[in-house]
Amino acid sequence: MLDVASKAFFQTLSYSRTLKSLASRYGMSGTRAFGRRFIAGETVDAAIAAVRHIQSQGLLCTLDYLGESVTSLAAADTATREYLDLIDAVDRADVERNLSLKLTQIGLEVDRTICVDNLRKILAASEPCGFFVRIDMESSAHTDATLDIFETVWKSGFRGVGVVLQSCLYRTEKDFERVNALGARIRLVKGAYREPKSIAYQQKSDVDAAYVQLAKRLLTEGVYPAIATHDEDILNEVTRFASDRAISPDAYEFQMLYGIRRDLQSRFRDAGHRVRVYVPFGREWFPYFMRRLGERPANVAFVIRSIFAERSVSTQRR
Ligand code: FDA
Repeated sequence: MLDVASKAFFQTLSYSRTLKSLASRYGMSGTRAFGRRFIAGETVDAAIAAVRHIQSQGLLCTLDYLGESVTSLAAADTATREYLDLIDAVDRADVERNLSLKLTQIGLEVDRTICVDNLRKILAASEPCGFFVRIDMESSAHTDATLDIFETVWKSGFRGVGVVLQSCLYRTEKDFERVNALGARIRLVKGAYREPKSIAYQQKSDVDAAYVQLAKRLLTEGVYPAIATHDEDILNEVTRFASDRAISPDAYEFQMLYGIRRDLQSRFRDAGHRVRVYVPFGREWFPYFMRRLGERPANVAFVIRSIFAERSVSTQRR
């Protein structure tokens, strides 16, 4: 239950404008910028440099240009153009062509038709250049719309696109069957949002058990699934399961977040697994950052230490 309470607490704080403006001001600059623990930087150049570094270590990447819940068509249009610019920049830099995006960033909460148009623009630019675009899954308020829009673009012929399912939701087994019937690629996560008990498991042990069950189905029935977790026990169990059934490590990949459990990223890479790192960047990093704190409240101690270290450095400078 602590798990759910901390998610709820940090999700509520993530709506605070004051905290957001303070964090945006101090969190990515200075000698101990705490935001950099989880965010690759604020610019495309910083993101591409991070991708180069991660690729040089034998890991795969997906780039997420941060942003969500835009409230105007102008903002949705700007985000879409920024994704198109990102596609150009990645193409020119010749780094890995793999992106993750959120539908509320390109207008889902403003106008669903425009959101679909924006997604089509991004896919029409990315697919011919060999990109894969993953549609992240947001809170349960958007699960139906996200799956419907995904299915719409899939049925209109786009194939360089996949979606995410969350093991915390009771509905996910059915959603798995729906997406799998299309032949599409699924990333499985536990779920980063606070959800009510009418629709979601509240105990971590139940979320984990559902995750393992779904991961096994994905490995045996899915199309190149992405097992996205830092849960060492689950990763070990999934690896054993795959090896017992002679499922090749090329038939799936593990995914982990930038800055989290680098030891596991290296260990599974060294054992011959494909490991993809989710690399978030951009100025709108605050809600993403707060979700990372909510997953592991011990991270707050790290932020506080960074702030005080920075303050004592600044005091010494004065
Ligand atoms: P769990 O929370 O049990 O953590 C296992 C271990 O990982 C912890 O003991 C700790 O060591 C480490 N750890 C986990 N989180 C940490 C943190 N924040 N800081 C430091 N250590 C941490 N969610 C969603 O709702 N929609 C989405 O589209 C995505 N997309 C996505 C992509 C990728 C590549 C990943 C890895 C995750 C997501 N998520 C997501 C987030 C996901 O739902 C989940 O909230 C986090 O992965 C944390 O859960 P774990 O599976 O790691 O397990």
